[in-house]
Amino acid sequence: MSAQNPSEDVRPYVRGHYGKIAENFASESAANCCSPANSSRSNSESRRIQLYETSDVNLLPAEVTGLSLGCGDPITPAELLPGQTVLDLGSGGGIDCFLAARQVGPSGYVIGVDMTPSMLEKARLNKSKLNADNVEFRLGEIEHLPVADASVDVIISNCVINLSPDKPQVMRESYRVLKPGGKLAVSDMVIDGPLPEEVKSSLSEWAGCVAGAPDKQEYIRFIQEAGFIDIQLTPVYLPRETVDEAVKSLDTALQQEVAADENLYQTVFSARLTARKPD
Ligand SMILES: C[S@@+](CC[C@H](N)C(=O)[O-])C[C@H]1O[C@@H](n2cnc3c(N)ncnc32)[C@H](O)[C@@H]1O
Repeated sequence: MSAQNPSEDVRPYVRGHYGKIAENFASESAANCCSPANSSRSNSESRRIQLYETSDVNLLPAEVTGLSLGCGDPITPAELLPGQTVLDLGSGGGIDCFLAARQVGPSGYVIGVDMTPSMLEKARLNKSKLNADNVEFRLGEIEHLPVADASVDVIISNCVINLSPDKPQVMRESYRVLKPGGKLAVSDMVIDGPLPEEVKSSLSEWAGCVAGAPDKQEYIRFIQEAGFIDIQLTPVYLPRETVDEAVKSLDTALQQEVAADENLYQTVFSARLTARKPD
């Protein structure tokens, strides 16, 4: 799943994985992005909801919060204003679209794009349940956005771009659809430093995403090369227990090797990324 060597092989796997999560989801208990789709539920819902700074998240029903699969809070850094048009890359069950919709109000508009049909179905059911008239969900790939040029004020995304087989193309598309002066506000898994492949795949059990997470400098380069300016990346570290759990599932020799490395806790994190398209 290398960003420099875009491979489409990963796409059916990613679509299948999230498709099963959406199909198996029952609102009375939370989905777990990261465990196999048929595994037992975990406390992932409360962990994910705690990532948000806005208390609006507590107003959303379990159908929405339980299908939250993000790794951060893209809503706070987006600093949305009434009347804005917002695009959510990889909208899943719609949590960030519904939060954004409250902030942009009835004069604003929110578009969620996702490539997984059953996820889209859940999001549209949630839209009806919430009467969210200013939200629309579109089937599509974030590498080929079904969105007009220069039509969006703010792009948000939560734990999705790392799953893409062609991250530079996602950035070029984001740039294309943003209006001049438009903002990018992304939460995503990022790696900073060496991380053994086995640890990556073990952590992916938590954040389906770590296996494809780009290196921090590489991520910034993709954003820069697409034309964005004012790029900022702030790390939000995973809870130590999450990393410890991932290490526990490794074979004993590797466990001893990585357990001694205190840097591990800072090597993989959820990044809060913001950038701007020039005026
Ligand atoms: C980890 S989930 C995050 C969902 C949502 N952003 C949230 O915070 O709950 C990833 C979502 O991105 C979608 N996705 C992954 N890769 C995609 C791509 N290349 N194009 C469009 N959607 C994609 C998946 O179908 C899935 O719904």
